[in-house]
Amino acid sequence: MNPQYLVIHGPNLNLLGMREPEIYGHETLEEINRRLRVWAEQEGVSLRIIQSNDEGAIIDAIQEARTWARGIVINAGAYTHTSYAIRDALAAIRLPAIEVHLSNIHAREAFRRRSLIAPVCLGQICGLGWRGYLLALQALLARDREESAPGE
Ligand code: DQA
Repeated sequence: MNPQYLVIHGPNLNLLGMREPEIYGHETLEEINRRLRVWAEQEGVSLRIIQSNDEGAIIDAIQEARTWARGIVINAGAYTHTSYAIRDALAAIRLPAIEVHLSNIHAREAFRRRSLIAPVCLGQICGLGWRGYLLALQALLARDREESAPGE
């Protein structure tokens, strides 16, 4: 079966395009998602993409992913810096997750440098704009393909 991944966009990312474009870029969330879907179709991958401003809805999506997903790409927005609950959800389900941020969180305000979810993620991609999502998905897929065809 084709690998299936969950992409989570957290709070305020529905405003991309008009939200501080000098920091987050000019692409809307819809444009970013379209690019991810084009890639997924080329690779024969299924994507479920959600955006929520609600911490509980993000946790529900993470919990549910354990029943169907091979991995998760998550930009938890400001919850990255505050949410022990999202961290615990990611730790609980034991799926590989990659944390993405459009901006370089290490080059901004001090409070953004600390990610509560980083320790329970496979890795973190930040500062590369929307391409970070694509790179994260490519990494998950490469791992899955390696796993299903070891030594090739
Ligand atoms: C963000 C960085 C966070 O600090 C911020 O709260 C966001 C977006 C990013 O993609 O750069 O909402 O996750």
